[in-house]
Amino acid sequence: MPDGMNIDYDGLIPNNVGLAEDQRVRKALETWHPGYIDWWKDMGPEGFQESLVYLRTAIGVDPKGWAKFDYVKMPEYKWGILLAPAVEGRTIPFGKHKGELAWQEVPGEYRALLRRLIVVQGDTEPASVEQQRHLGATAPSLYDLRNLFQVNVEEGRHLWAMVYLLHKYFGTDGREEAEELLQRRSGHADTPRMLGAFNEATPDWLSFFMFTYFTDRDGKMQLEALAQSGFDPLSRTCRFMLTEEAHHMFVGDSGVQRVVERTVQAMRDAGINDPYDQAAERKLGVIDLPTIQKKMNLHFSLTLDLFGNEISTNAANAFNAGIKGRYREDKIEDDHDLIGATYPVLRCVDGEIVREEAPALSALNMRLRDDYVKDCESGVVRWNRVIEKAGFSFRLALPHVAFNRAIGEFATIKAGPDGVVMDAAAWAARAGDWLPDAADAAYIDSLMVPVREAGQYASWIAPPRVGIDNKGGDFEYVQIVQ
Ligand SMILES: [Fe+2]
Ligand SMILES: [Fe+2]
Repeated sequence: MPDGMNIDYDGLIPNNVGLAEDQRVRKALETWHPGYIDWWKDMGPEGFQESLVYLRTAIGVDPKGWAKFDYVKMPEYKWGILLAPAVEGRTIPFGKHKGELAWQEVPGEYRALLRRLIVVQGDTEPASVEQQRHLGATAPSLYDLRNLFQVNVEEGRHLWAMVYLLHKYFGTDGREEAEELLQRRSGHADTPRMLGAFNEATPDWLSFFMFTYFTDRDGKMQLEALAQSGFDPLSRTCRFMLTEEAHHMFVGDSGVQRVVERTVQAMRDAGINDPYDQAAERKLGVIDLPTIQKKMNLHFSLTLDLFGNEISTNAANAFNAGIKGRYREDKIEDDHDLIGATYPVLRCVDGEIVREEAPALSALNMRLRDDYVKDCESGVVRWNRVIEKAGFSFRLALPHVAFNRAIGEFATIKAGPDGVVMDAAAWAARAGDWLPDAADAAYIDSLMVPVREAGQYASWIAPPRVGIDNKGGDFEYVQIVQ
């Protein structure tokens, strides 16, 4: 049995799951591989496939092995299958099987449920690569270009991780699902990706930073919940994916921060005192603070829809079955079965937003969303500190969870970012104040000019404080070959 530490790095598919001894799965994955490469070339970063990118590759799962930096052509990046090390004697941490030994094979009764969760997670990975494929053309620096590509290759690896589970544990239907993961396309009219936010455009770099901050963070929450799974291979897969996910959120967090930094710096230099004076801010070639807020409103609200219905029987079933836990279940101190427990849920009753106690089992999506919102706050606090230090009274804020929703309790009502419910006409009249409109998009688009000299940055973003892998300011993160 693979113990999670022996990595075979030389074969077609680098892995620590003992593929060399597993003919069936190795063959299946080798058959899937060309389709993946075709997908990457069709739908991966456009125009940079020959360029040398200073990438981090995981060559092991221990602290020394998972971050090896070197110049790599993206199609030659070693996408592999890596599971976090097995935990000896691990037991199922929650639900009705709590305390039983974790499953090493799929329990028959939960097969469909598990397959569905793996496919939905798997579908988001290539989707984000597709959403981001045009961004290379307008990268504000080589540093940012490199970070984009790092995120992209790792999302590709996350797809590999999910496809491995499908091939290894789900036979013929797993193979079919793995094929379909390569067929769907983000935003496609007939064969879209499975979840709404993954069919939205990522038209510019501020969207990219908001996406990696907010939407990759949904990924983190889902992976944390699946990392608790009683199905041990899923748990181990997700635990390793989380190490990579942290970098994606760093890219978003620091990206937005650098945009804010540049904006307030330019305002100070120009002697602008009114942070709501968009026209004056835009004359400086930076993204004005109100527009940053609007982008935040959009990406936060789109991402909240990924948590599904506040009250959900599926979520209850998955928990009861020991398949999907709560955020950091192993750190929570309660009975971990939630029978008879309640949880406060925001609901829409007669068009009003009210808080109601609901059975905790049914409210698991709501709970995960609450944990997510808390997690989102930390970046906002940091961004606001930059604005405050620069002496401006403006504060960025997460909009109310009822704002701009398409799924769940608030899909049928209209609420402002402050949570005040209003009729559709009143909302539509204000929408341009709350969400980016065509003029905002056109302005941001006008700033999206590529900067490709090492150490140089576009007008609208500050340089990072430190380089990747401690490289100096003029390091050439991407050697462009086109
Ligand atoms: Fe991912
Ligand atoms: Fe990610």
